[in-house]
Amino acid sequence: MSRITVNFIKCAIIYFILAMLLGLHMSAGGPRYPFLQIHTHLNLLGWMSMMIYGVGYHILPRFSGKPLWSNGLAVGHIWLANIGLIGMALGWALHSTPTHLLFSVIEGLSMLFFAINMFKTIRAVDPPKPAPAKAAAKK
Ligand code: HEM
Ligand code: HEM
Repeated sequence: MSRITVNFIKCAIIYFILAMLLGLHMSAGGPRYPFLQIHTHLNLLGWMSMMIYGVGYHILPRFSGKPLWSNGLAVGHIWLANIGLIGMALGWALHSTPTHLLFSVIEGLSMLFFAINMFKTIRAVDPPKPAPAKAAAKK
């Protein structure tokens, strides 16, 4: 597995554990828990999305039979996805809308990096046409 796949899967598992701990804390906390959104997004942007990114970086280039379009974009993606998610959580924890907004944009940018990279990687190519039958028969 490539470094980007391994790193994304490691991040996903770490967020999964953090979200689970927060979920347990929330279960004990009763209704109107203030950090519900942090639990949700550690699970959905951390655990689930990052697992999908990690597996996607491994499997989609293999499906398309082409190397990943840009390794640099993938490295940018993993950094921005982590910075964005941690910052979003911080924004929610501090009830700071500007902080949340700033890091949401960073998170969104990271998602765009993934989308561009994958669109470029999985571009379909028509299979080569078989040689015309006549030309083949002459030989
Ligand atoms: C040990 C694991 C988990 C525990 C203890 C836990 C606990 C909780 C609790 C107590 C709530 C608040 C429910 C409420 O009062 O509205 C909640 C909400 C939520 N959880 Fe978890 N959770 C766990 C795992 C997960 C996982 C794995 C996911 C997704 C992959 C997830 C996604 C969500 C979402 C999306 C909400 C918000 C639902 C809404 O909008 O009301 N949770 N969780
Ligand atoms: C850049 C990415 C994202 C941003 C900025 C974002 C932001 C937000 C915000 C501001 C809320 C409302 C929270 C509130 O009630 O005050 C929310 C809720 C929610 N989001 Fe996201 N989100 C993002 C990605 C995602 C993704 C990828 C998923 C699912 C795979 C998701 C699932 C949810 C769910 C289930 C809720 C309702 C439960 C909750 O309030 O936590 N979000 N999101």
